[in-house]
Amino acid sequence: MSFDLSVIPNKNIVLAVTGGIAAYKSAILVRRLKDAGFNIRVVMTHGAQAFVTPLTFQALSGNPVHTELLNPEAEAGMGHIELARWADLLLVAPASCDTLAKFANGLADDLLSTLYLATKSPVWVAPAMNQQMWAAKATQRNLNTLVEDGVHVIMPDAGSQACGDIGLGRMPAPEDLARQVTEYFHKAQRAIAEKFGMLAGKHVVITAGPTREAIDPVRYISNHSTGKMGFALAAACYAAGAKVTLIAGPVSLDTPNGVRRINVSSAVKMLETSMQMLDEGCDIFIATAAVADYRVAEVAEHKIKKAGDELNVALIKNPDIVATIAQQQKRPFMVGFAAETRNVEEYAAGKLVAKKLDMIACNDVSRPDIGFASDENAMIVFFAEQYQMQKRDLEKASKQEIAQQLVEAIHDALQHEIEPV
Ligand code: C5P
Repeated sequence: MSFDLSVIPNKNIVLAVTGGIAAYKSAILVRRLKDAGFNIRVVMTHGAQAFVTPLTFQALSGNPVHTELLNPEAEAGMGHIELARWADLLLVAPASCDTLAKFANGLADDLLSTLYLATKSPVWVAPAMNQQMWAAKATQRNLNTLVEDGVHVIMPDAGSQACGDIGLGRMPAPEDLARQVTEYFHKAQRAIAEKFGMLAGKHVVITAGPTREAIDPVRYISNHSTGKMGFALAAACYAAGAKVTLIAGPVSLDTPNGVRRINVSSAVKMLETSMQMLDEGCDIFIATAAVADYRVAEVAEHKIKKAGDELNVALIKNPDIVATIAQQQKRPFMVGFAAETRNVEEYAAGKLVAKKLDMIACNDVSRPDIGFASDENAMIVFFAEQYQMQKRDLEKASKQEIAQQLVEAIHDALQHEIEPV
């Protein structure tokens, strides 16, 4: 199971292109669906091939195009029954009047109409035709039948048509269709996660990125944290069915799908926001933020002017956010991170105890291939003694994969009934 919601992995779409001028838009649709991570196989009716060549779709989809029902060579590759089973969605775009009529009446005289009868997958049709043909009683009758049969009809847009008419019948833009399809799979994946997800019903709060400690109105102290690990964790927790709040320091990352993001700047503000989350009810607190250990004692009201050869700025200690939350009476399950350059395991195990955490994930940031700005990470996870769980080695992998394994580790620890500390 993958938790990355930014793209839809391992889902198969059979895109059926039928005869109509809108077929050219389907070429772009293949691109957009591929961008979203779908595997695409294209079926073309004979009519469609009068508008666009199969070669176009072969090049764009990266798969041979299916055109014939009774072609032994094609059937030997991936036969129509196999194709029907392969599909997680049969998307017919554009869907001609003729195709709608065939579907509505159960005809099976070509590859597409046979596929329609043979597949168990959801079927979506995006009708595209002349406005008068769309309005024709027979077309509307067929559409009603298809809706009753469980087919999802994507309504055509209104506007000027290739034939010169103005009215309903234009296929929606490929970007719009791709968005609708992606949203459908996200929702389906989400529904499964909510039902069976490892963190279903939990509110997870995650701190991420650096903090920024002002020196004067134009200068600050900060660090190189990019927030990637925290953002990957937010996506993984959401995909595992949790409600997720991400308290983010200044980073330039897009908010993961479904995640509530609260932007903060300083450590003090990050703590204040974290405490508010406790009031809202928080089950799991994950501290990935690289919080500045010190802040400027007195932030200058105006820009500090250049003067002597030396400038001394007094610093005072910032609150430890994760340790403060862990001390609260109604504390969530606490997860900390430790970035070390030496004695990694020893220091991490020490922090687990000192900060009263339930779990800590540590990594060796002296390794140039993992850590802060890298897209990959490798970690060792320790659990508090009362869980009686073995430490886990998470081998070098993408931050998304590491995030998924951390979600599993949290889930497993939560299964252990422990006495409150
Ligand atoms: O002590 P150290 O900074 O190495 O601890 C790292 C862990 O503590 C991380 O989980 C980090 O997010 C958290 N932390 C915090 N507030 C601080 C310092 C660290 O929440 N002021």
